[in-house]
Amino acid sequence: MLIRILIGAASALLLGSCQSGEAPAPRQAARMVAPVLTGADAIDVHSYAKPLEARVTHVALDLNVDFATKRVGGTATLDLQAKPGIDSITLDDKGLQIAGITNADGKPLPYKVGAVDPILGAPLTVQMGDAKRIIIRYTSAPDAGALQWLTPKQTAGKKSPYLLSQGQAIENRSWIPTQDSPGVRQTWEAKIRVPKALTAVMSAPKGAEPVTDGATRVFSYKMDKPVAPYLIAIAVGDLAFRELGPRTGVWTEPAMLDKAAAELADTEKMVVAAEKLFGPYQWGRYDMLVLPPSFPFGGMENPTLTFLTPTFIAGDKSLTSLIAHELAHSWSGNLATNATWADFWLNEGMTTYATTRIVEAVYGPKVAAQQVALGHDAMRAAITENGGPTGPDTRLHLDLKGRSPDDGLTDIAYEKGAAFLRTIEVAVGRERFDAWLKGWFSRHMFEPVTTSIFLADIRQHLIKGDAALETKLALDAWVNDPGIPANLAPADPQAFAEVDAAVTAFKTGTQPTTEAWQRWTTDEKLRFLTRLDKKQPTARLAALDQAFGLAKAGNNEVRFAFLTLAVAARYDPAVPALEQFLLVQGRRKFVRPLITALAADTTWGRPIAKRVYAKARPLYHPVTTRDLDKLDLIASPSAIL
Ligand code: BES
Ligand code: ZN
Repeated sequence: MLIRILIGAASALLLGSCQSGEAPAPRQAARMVAPVLTGADAIDVHSYAKPLEARVTHVALDLNVDFATKRVGGTATLDLQAKPGIDSITLDDKGLQIAGITNADGKPLPYKVGAVDPILGAPLTVQMGDAKRIIIRYTSAPDAGALQWLTPKQTAGKKSPYLLSQGQAIENRSWIPTQDSPGVRQTWEAKIRVPKALTAVMSAPKGAEPVTDGATRVFSYKMDKPVAPYLIAIAVGDLAFRELGPRTGVWTEPAMLDKAAAELADTEKMVVAAEKLFGPYQWGRYDMLVLPPSFPFGGMENPTLTFLTPTFIAGDKSLTSLIAHELAHSWSGNLATNATWADFWLNEGMTTYATTRIVEAVYGPKVAAQQVALGHDAMRAAITENGGPTGPDTRLHLDLKGRSPDDGLTDIAYEKGAAFLRTIEVAVGRERFDAWLKGWFSRHMFEPVTTSIFLADIRQHLIKGDAALETKLALDAWVNDPGIPANLAPADPQAFAEVDAAVTAFKTGTQPTTEAWQRWTTDEKLRFLTRLDKKQPTARLAALDQAFGLAKAGNNEVRFAFLTLAVAARYDPAVPALEQFLLVQGRRKFVRPLITALAADTTWGRPIAKRVYAKARPLYHPVTTRDLDKLDLIASPSAIL
């Protein structure tokens, strides 16, 4: 990798031509500055920033966390680089209340907030003149899309409030005024003031030791590697920490610590396996934060501190491929980052592929082969859900203009992306593919990447002019065409031989034996449930439920798979368990499809959806309620914050 130290020649950096060998500007601290890409496919339609004119290189936050008003507020000090002759910079803003903007000497600078777009928010343009640093005084709005403010009742301990953030894809502009584009990497630091009894954790190494000041405590964090701004994350609550390995550990509420630590016991092994596969881990520590159940995702790869739903805790480590996934993002996503959300598959598809490789190294080839097979089922389902084999949204490289980046959050990115990489691996052989993959991460470390960069890299470093291989791989068809290319490397048809036979037997009336069900792994149970016909007679669901206790299964993925069948079949006896499931956790992957399916069933399901959503909404994160509110289940959702 090039040595990317801070260089005085700002325009060279803006154009992405940061070369080693140029002299650092005098008296400026050496700081890594990652170049911004110039290609047409690197233009981010989800940000107002014009980084080729003026860009943010560093963000320093000094914020107070106020649970009473549900606001974070204080200052954001931004370090800037601008092309000669450019005297204004455009940032992203979603609902921020700005009190004033000055230069480093406190001189007020003119600024303007432009028209608000419901998806993107508004451009915030600051006339900085020749200032290299600006200071923005602001507070976030109580309904900031990135932040969720939990009452003590919504936590495990029931005593303290809790704040959590979720930045991906374009939420961080609701609490950090910066250029919120994954192609504009920034180093950052933060001072966070919270009530004395609480702890603030962030996605960066600890800065200074926390300082108590009257009734408050100030925590410091500092990320000296340039990261995409969606990766800045915070959580504040009654938190405790436990060491898991030399560089791994877990943060969570004290009441959750034993359970969380037991479930995460394999983490250090995973880091060792991942380093062997992808190269040295670049972020220092790998800690995890197990959040309250309203966290909207399974996991989020915030650097140095993966955020996790507590719903992955099954008691038997059977859902820990989630950890392998978030850990893999430490390379695919956090080192080499999609420059825009149109290339989201480069984050998630590569990570899904890498997850299976970590799982194979830690849990063996059979488990990995089964996960590949489940992935192929999910890919095919996503093709069906996205308009079939000719649907434009079944392409890896997406057109998201005028749309939310969330529209790209499908198993096309995850599973078609992973299937593409596995197809290449099988075609060239593992050894050769692995050498390329390690090389890819080291060549693009701390850099934004696009599909065209990916293709060029594969051609230069893997295909190397081999025309027969070029034809065999069908790279362009994979990234540009809808559907599944013909050269897909198939999943092992024997991966689930016993379960698939049980699915066939079920069709003719035979249910799996209790012995079989209890012996099956979680993935085997999921294969069984997801392969059953969607509309089962209620008597058959009742028989399954009675035999295996599925509506109340302790494993949340199994429970979700069964409840999905229950809703499709209008299976009344599962309704109390369904209602409870929707009220105790707010993971979007679980609650959105269930509530959406209920809402679509106007006679049976919709009344249930209305009743449950009215009660559940306060538990859910804004990124979850934003979609569910569109179902018009409750009169004025925002009134019941
Ligand atoms: N980075 C994603 C979560 C995400 C994607 C949040 C896009 C917002 C926008 C994370 O790594 C992820 O993929 N989580 C999955 C985990 C799973 C695939 C193992 C989830 O939350 O379900
Ligand atoms: Zn992911």
